[in-house]
Amino acid sequence: MRFFLSPPHMSGNELKYIEEVFKSNYIAPLGEFVNRFEKSVKEYSKSENALALNSATAALHLALRVAGVEQNDIVLASSFTFIASVAPICYLKAKPIFIDCDETYNLDITLLKRAIKECEKRPKALILTHLYGNAAKMDEIMQICSENNIILIEDAAEALGSFYREKALGTFGEFGVYSYNGNKIITTSGGGMLVGKNKEKVEKARFYSTQAREDCLHYEHLDYGYNYRLSNVLGAIGLAQMEVLEQRVLKKREIYNWYKEFLGDKLTFLDELKDSRSNRWLSTALIDFDTKELNLYEKNINISQKNIPLHPKISKLIDDLKKEQIETRPLWKAMHTQAVFKDCKAYINGNSELFFQKGICLPSGTAMQKNDVKEISELILKSIKE
Ligand SMILES: Cc1ncc(COP(=O)(O)O)c(C=O)c1O
Repeated sequence: MRFFLSPPHMSGNELKYIEEVFKSNYIAPLGEFVNRFEKSVKEYSKSENALALNSATAALHLALRVAGVEQNDIVLASSFTFIASVAPICYLKAKPIFIDCDETYNLDITLLKRAIKECEKRPKALILTHLYGNAAKMDEIMQICSENNIILIEDAAEALGSFYREKALGTFGEFGVYSYNGNKIITTSGGGMLVGKNKEKVEKARFYSTQAREDCLHYEHLDYGYNYRLSNVLGAIGLAQMEVLEQRVLKKREIYNWYKEFLGDKLTFLDELKDSRSNRWLSTALIDFDTKELNLYEKNINISQKNIPLHPKISKLIDDLKKEQIETRPLWKAMHTQAVFKDCKAYINGNSELFFQKGICLPSGTAMQKNDVKEISELILKSIKE
């Protein structure tokens, strides 16, 4: 591939820090760089507590566990997301209820209220995804969670470096998670971070992340845990990457604006929420989109639910660009449309299905230059005209 969606972009300091790790021989487990990585995330996001883990999926699992979610508990969740946001609900044998999105790709408030009102018992938690780095409507969501005593867990896996009213996404809820997977805005090759308001709960998660080992010389266990911690080598990469996070966000935003400049009159680019700053992790666009098509289900216009076909222009575009060694992808396929969740309850309005049909993720690597975006845009214009 000539252009990937979001390839790793090292800063230069990673190797220097890794060398220090090797010299100290604290290759694994844990060590000074994991501590420094956690500290840098706390400082950047202004969160009280941070726990470095080997994935954001692990962070969500631990958040649910220390939130007290148990078998048969109900957990509300954004439907328009990647499966890792919600798979941990299944690990705990709790029951997800999926909620569709609004015009921002994120949780629809009206549906959220309806889901809570009609719920057979109080939902224990809400897993809220900030999709593609875009902020969800935090004022309303915070208020609804607090009025209904629902623990808010923010899946900010894609939203490190995004803010709402100058507060980092991931720090509004009781817990927030960030991902450092290979395709994220910055990466440790694989890794995650749990941030949280309550020190005791984050420390409990730390305890679970290292096999719930009691604090004594031999291996004593009163509970069971997981092997979820990050190695010191990856902590070193994480620290170096945190140093360039802000630069990467500015570049991602620039790339988004270039696409908009070249393609804005042919494709639709959704605005970010007022008073927010999206990290624009992936530039996304919609084809043949009209806002009148939103909330179709409320107008009782039925579109298919499970086997949703991609818009023919999107399939063609993805194929055409692949021939040019350019990676693109459809938007996420909503959880309520996945066979694995066919028996789960969902509150839907048609929006995520529409976005799936008509949307495309564009190459957004931070090493790209304006000329690259111009070249890709010209190929897109050619493909959709044919
Ligand atoms: C929305 C969302 N949630 C969770 C994850 C899981 O992150 P990780 O791969 O670090 O487990 C990802 C990406 O991988 C994601 O995009």
